[in-house]
Amino acid sequence: MIGPMPTPLRGLPEHVTIYEVGPRDGLQNEQATIPTEVKAQFIDRLAAAGLRTIEATSFVHPKWVPQLADADVLIRDLHRADGVRYPVLVPNERGLDRALDLGITDIAVFASATEAFAQKNLNRTLDSQILMFEPVVRRAREAGLTVRGYLSMCFGDPWEGEVPVEQVTRVGRQLLDLGCTELSLGDTIGVGTPGQVHAVLRSFVDAGTPIGELAVHFHDTYGQALANTLAALQLGVTTVDASAGGLGGCPYAESATGNLATEDLVWQLHGLGIDTGVDLAALVRTSIWMAEVLGRASPSRVVQAIGKGD
Ligand code: HMG
Ligand code: MG
Repeated sequence: MIGPMPTPLRGLPEHVTIYEVGPRDGLQNEQATIPTEVKAQFIDRLAAAGLRTIEATSFVHPKWVPQLADADVLIRDLHRADGVRYPVLVPNERGLDRALDLGITDIAVFASATEAFAQKNLNRTLDSQILMFEPVVRRAREAGLTVRGYLSMCFGDPWEGEVPVEQVTRVGRQLLDLGCTELSLGDTIGVGTPGQVHAVLRSFVDAGTPIGELAVHFHDTYGQALANTLAALQLGVTTVDASAGGLGGCPYAESATGNLATEDLVWQLHGLGIDTGVDLAALVRTSIWMAEVLGRASPSRVVQAIGKGD
């Protein structure tokens, strides 16, 4: 199999953690019902390909996200490999109780930077979403869990349009101040461009946020995700979210398409001489298998290119 020629670019990190969201962000939006065993196999194959953080599912209301209604069974039966973290999404205390019962060690709460999406995704206002998360983050931290905070619509919102950087920073800081251990900045509908990425990240740093606490989460709707990733790496970000095969979307934001494909990210990172620990060939085989299960080709350019040659 061919691969990129490693050629470092000055000023970039030596190691990047890929936060794999395929089983959660990727599968939450599928029309077809995917059997729990297939989801488990997907997660196992991602771990075998070298991914060390794999967001497995969501403990949300099953009526809100029917595709992940099997979360409890999936986690109960999942083979949790040593050295791999399997975070899950948790919006409220009910979700936290479900996660704690199953011995989960890593969770993520998910907020919106805009009023419109907070309503649509969480049935809450900007302020009441934070009130909902407060006891979740507090209890989870007391129990020794790591808690990621997601912030959606950081670079544009389909209902509100432009989202002021100050508003993004204010809500994101609220999540960190609650005790979140990491903040993932989401371009939920994939409209952002590199200058915006610098502006948003700089605003957090100016507000006293260590860059190591920030991750980026790009959907690739307008083909900007890789450029935006490079912009984030230039400012020192070392955690990048991606979804195997470019699966994904959000059921409460129709204009969202798949995440940045993990294979496309790995190609870029390995090309920059940045270590990821991921076996690209094994990952591509996994995405080709998943595309067959779903009955449609992966949108990832790397999967397409390598798939043809395999
Ligand atoms: P609500 O209707 O306001 O819920 O929804 P509630 O608090 O009023 O409770 C109503 C009933 O639901 C109660 O049952 C609760 O027990 C039950 P009843 O007493 O009536 O019998 N309930 C639950 N059951 C199971 N598990 C739970 C749970 N919570 C309440 N966790 C709620 C509020 C937050 C629950 C709802 O809005 C929800 O589940 N939203 C999830 C939406 C979602 O998952 N969206 C996709 C993920 S976000 C995303 O994709 C973006 C991201 O990728 C980043 C990016 O791209 O930007 C992360
Ligand atoms: Mg997302």
